[in-house]
Amino acid sequence: MTVIEAQGLSKRFLLRHNASVELKVRFLGFLHPEKRQSIEEFWALKDVSLTIKRGEAVGLVGRNGSGKSTFLKLIAAVHRPTSGRLLVRRSARIASMIELGVGFHGELTGRENVFLNAAIHGLTHQQIEAIYGAIVEYSGLAHFIDVPIKNYSSGMYMRLGFAIAANLDPDILLLDEIFAVGDADFQQRCIETVNEFLNRGKTIVFVSHSPGSVRAICQRVCVLEQGQLAFDGDVESGLAFYAGLLAELHHPSASQSAG
Ligand SMILES: Nc1ncnc2c1ncn2[C@@H]1O[C@H](COP(=O)(O)OP(=O)(O)OP(=O)(O)O)[C@@H](O)[C@H]1O
Ligand SMILES: [Mg+2]
Repeated sequence: MTVIEAQGLSKRFLLRHNASVELKVRFLGFLHPEKRQSIEEFWALKDVSLTIKRGEAVGLVGRNGSGKSTFLKLIAAVHRPTSGRLLVRRSARIASMIELGVGFHGELTGRENVFLNAAIHGLTHQQIEAIYGAIVEYSGLAHFIDVPIKNYSSGMYMRLGFAIAANLDPDILLLDEIFAVGDADFQQRCIETVNEFLNRGKTIVFVSHSPGSVRAICQRVCVLEQGQLAFDGDVESGLAFYAGLLAELHHPSASQSAG
């Protein structure tokens, strides 16, 4: 059963260079639009086609800026596609841990953020009360739960976000760099939770720069390179393909002199 299907999916951003340019220059640009060169079209994703089935754990790897987070944000409907199609199974509940801060409000306490976040995911107050205890326990942040989260460390943020996502019982879990700031204890618990999810037939898209955690979680790897899908296949071949890309980057002359 297909849960996510992208067909020719593309996302364009407008990159505004020199946003702080002088007013005078901006005014001249207004008079002479042909001279306005500060806005660049940038395709963060280009013509990506892939299908993800229920129960799959797909590792999404690629260099910084290759479009991984953008892909997750399209699935999570944070952004809309510029062109192409993205079909996400209608009944699927999606939980995501995309970037530090997405869906969180710094001035609110941990407790308030749990309620806000779960409400955004469509849970009633009663339903949230029912899982609140489990979220706090999972996060290990009981002592800090009434502190505004702007005073949390990066790892604490991540713990709270993952604890919420895990307890929402989603059909699709989108995870972006969740291990980047977590300690070993948290990483171990994440891997256990994720594997438990997979045993229950949930679908996971896992973005990571760590081959070890991709191996621990995924059965399939997709490599993005400059917004394009450069590889889609088994984990070891995918990681090898990506390592090759990075090696090329470090020794560009090697391939040039060979050719
Ligand atoms: N809201 C935005 N406005 C303009 N450009 C954006 C926006 N979001 C992302 N981009 C650009 O799109 C490209 C892809 O970004 P994305 O965050 O998807 O990369 P990534 O693969 O997740 O990288 P990383 O490994 O560093 O997290 C980057 O060049 C980025 O500058
Ligand atoms: Mg990213």
